[in-house]
Order: sequence, then C-alpha cells, then structure tokens
Amino acid sequence: MGKKEQDNFFDELYEHSQAKLSLLKNYAIKWMRKVTLGTFQKRCAIIDTFAGTGFYEDGSDGSPIILIREALNYYEQSQKNPNINFNKIILAFIEKDKTNFLKLKSNIEKLIHQELKIDEFNKINTHPKIEIMLTNDDFNNFTENLLKNVNSIIPTLMFIDPFGYKVLNYDNISSIIKQYDHCELIINFMYEEINRFFLKSDSPAFIHTLNDFYGPNFERIKEIVYELNDKEERRKNIINGYKENLENAGATFSLDFDIEKQGKVKMNIIFTTKNINGFDVMKESMFDICNNTDFEYHTSSPQLSLFEINSVEEMIKSLYVYLFDMFKSQKVRFFEIKKCVMCHPCIPSKYVKKALKKLEDEGKIINVEKLDKSSRRKGTFPDNSIIWFGEK
Ligand SMILES: C[S@@+](CC[C@H](N)C(=O)[O-])C[C@H]1O[C@@H](n2cnc3c(N)ncnc32)[C@H](O)[C@@H]1O
Repeated sequence: MGKKEQDNFFDELYEHSQAKLSLLKNYAIKWMRKVTLGTFQKRCAIIDTFAGTGFYEDGSDGSPIILIREALNYYEQSQKNPNINFNKIILAFIEKDKTNFLKLKSNIEKLIHQELKIDEFNKINTHPKIEIMLTNDDFNNFTENLLKNVNSIIPTLMFIDPFGYKVLNYDNISSIIKQYDHCELIINFMYEEINRFFLKSDSPAFIHTLNDFYGPNFERIKEIVYELNDKEERRKNIINGYKENLENAGATFSLDFDIEKQGKVKMNIIFTTKNINGFDVMKESMFDICNNTDFEYHTSSPQLSLFEINSVEEMIKSLYVYLFDMFKSQKVRFFEIKKCVMCHPCIPSKYVKKALKKLEDEGKIINVEKLDKSSRRKGTFPDNSIIWFGEK
C-alpha cells in the first residue's frame, strides 16, 4: 500500500476492509464462546497486532472496537445466563505508530468510560472479567518478546492486519506456530501487492524481502509463478505456497478467503490453526460472510452460478453425496461421521445432521440406534447413535 493510501486509510472504511472485519467479528464471536466454554481454563486472549486507531473517520468500527464490543456483549450475556461461565478474556492491542496509538487509546477510553494504563492489563470496571492491554510497539518486536518470555499461552487468536507485507517476518510467524499449540492466526495476506512483487525482476533487495516475508519455498514458488499467465493459477500458487510454509512450521489446518474488488483479488485472509474445532468454525464463518464454499467475497455481487455451492441447501446436498459415497454399506458411529465432516476442506460440521436426515428420508440410511438402546425420534441423530448406511 502506498504512503498516500496509508495516510488516508482511516478516513473511510471501504467495502473490502469491511468484509475482512466482518469475518474477524463473525469468527471472534463464535471462537470466544467455543474456547471459554469448552476448555478447562475458561480463558482466552485476542491479540490485535496491527490495531490501528479503533474508529474510522466515517464512524465505522475498526478491529479493536469490534473486538471490545463483542467481548462486552459476551460478558453481558453471561451475566444473564448461568450456563455461560468464563473466567477471563484478555484483549491486547499492538500499534506501532504513536499518533494512531494515542487515538486508539483515547477511542477505547471513551468507549469504556475508563482511563487505561499502557503496557498493563486493565480490568474493565463495569465488565471485570475482561482485561485490555495497549502497547505502542512494533509487531516483530512484540512477537519476539512474547516468544522469549512466554513459553506457553492460553488459547489465543492473533489478528495480523498490516498495511503491506514487508513488515511481516516469516520467522516470527513460524516461531509462533511452532512454539504455541493454542494460538490461531488470521493473517491479512495483501495479495494484490504480493502478486505484483512476485512478478518483479530479481535483485538482491527483492530476494531478501521476499525471503524474509514469504518463507523457505519462495524461490521455487517464484519460478513457477513467473511462467504462469493465468491469474487464477498464479493466485493459487502464491497462496498455497505460503500456506505450505505455515503448515511446514506446524499448522495443522489452514483456510483462505479471497476478497475481490472489480474482478481482482485485493486481499486474501489466511487462517491457520492446530485445532480441528477452530478449523470447523472458521469454515462456518467464511461461508456466513461470502455464501459460497469457494470462500470468495466479491465487493459487487457476481453471478451466483459462478460457484458450485452457494447456499445452505446446496451445501447440505453436497454433504449428502459426500457422506453416502464415504459410508455406503457401513455401520458408523455418529461421532466418527461428525469428525470426518469437521476435516472436510470447506463444509462445516454444523450441517451434518441435516444431511443425515435427508439421507434417512430418502432411504439411504436404513437404521439408526442409540448405543444405550433407548428410543430415538426419526430424523434425529444423537451423539451416541450408530448409523447404518444402505448400499444404494
Ligand atoms: C491496516 S491498518 C490496521 C487496521 C485495523 N486492524 C482495523 O481493521 O481497524 C495497519 C495498522 O498497523 C500499524 N503498523 C504499521 N506497521 C506496524 C508494525 N510494524 N507493528 C505494529 N503496527 C504497525 C499502522 O500504523 C496501522 O495503524
């Protein structure tokens, strides 16, 4: 992103940035609940590592305000519902630019009506299970200190949203993945600029920057990309090459989400985790935002027929075929079927019961029994059930 674009970045929230923030918000809402209710510690942290100013000049919420509002909502929900019980949510905001940092601090203070101390965990007086930390630091410096001083961390979601790619250091990203088992990353991979950069001719400075940012396979990917004229093929290679580096660092699952503007991929949001639940939930969030399992968001709606799966009905139909192909003539526990769908590259397990119901309605499931032999209502698939698939 050019200097002028960076200087004017916070004037107005553009639709492509809005799509990125919608995905962050959608996932953070689900993730906070899943992690704090599903783990023993009942704690989690979200680190917004390129936090910005909090608000855009047009009044739109930036990532820090979105995250704070959602944590406050969750706390308020927990006060009304005794089944929702968590211990702590930490929200940390890292911002390098002094002016932006001070704006951010003041914007958050106005939102929560409380003064905040820098570099300290500030409990929100009105919502004491939520703590905010503000740091005026550089991403690489912050992560290097974190890696040096903290051996293991509570479940953490890190949002990495730089202006460009040059400030991102692959060694730091890969060290986070290697060192922390419970840290998920959402990276704004500035595809438009990265693609341009890949097509530049070689120079020592170029090789140095690309190596630092992209990771070990950059020379191989660059050679492949240089020969390709098809922009879709180029995109696939650049994104998959980077995901390969993340996976080699130890990330078990990754997903990517294209944000297109005027027919070109503007940015690509890369998600990486070692946790199958996180992977499953992110598939759901991506679908919620773009309504297709290609995970492509278009700032002006394309023809829906572009995508094979572009509605929940299509997704259930596709899962129906997938499950029958996988399990026909077999007797399988529900839990195994769910696990298999959780690993599906783009369909979330949320729809597994609907697909099973359709299979039963159409006679492709011939019997369902609960393991404790208690009775079961037709069309329901309890967690302790065993399912017989027919032959055809
Ligand atoms: C794209 S903006 C972030 C927007 C914000 N995430 C949002 O959605 O509201 C990038 C921000 O990162 C800050 N920044 C730039 N280089 C940085 C670095 N090395 N470490 C931390 N912050 C940095 C910039 O000052 C800018 O405020």
